Amino acid sequence: MEEFVWRDKYSIGNAQIDAEHLRLVELAGVVATLADSGEQMARIKEAVVALYDYVKTHFQHEEEYMLQLGYPRYEEHKKLHQEIIAEMNAIMKHSGNLDVLVYKFKRLMHSWVLEHILTEDSRIAPPKKAEEKTDSSTNEAG
Ligand SMILES: [Fe+2]
Repeated sequence: MEEFVWRDKYSIGNAQIDAEHLRLVELAGVVATLADSGEQMARIKEAVVALYDYVKTHFQHEEEYMLQLGYPRYEEHKKLHQEIIAEMNAIMKHSGNLDVLVYKFKRLMHSWVLEHILTEDSRIAPPKKAEEKTDSSTNEAG
């Protein structure tokens, strides 16, 4: 599995959302590192709960940002967030076995969250970023 490391390709061009995505990747990395180093169950669970809470907080912020922008795919995107939260809830509910909990959380972070940032979140480009795409024009006359 790929490490939980922030990469420039995750940037969607909004400083706050990027900072929150970076924090998400860091929190996922903390869970993975604690689990791999055989930390105490209480500490790993604490890290999982921190990640779980932060995902929910971040989704709220991202949804507010989409509304501010008047993002046309808001409802669709919000639904994806709800699906990720539902899956997290299901994992937390059946978290009797710590190894299974960590494994499922790591897999969720990879398959859902990182993938989600790359494909869905990157579509929520702020107006500035959309303009940059036309910068190949040579209209510097003046
Ligand atoms: Fe999102």
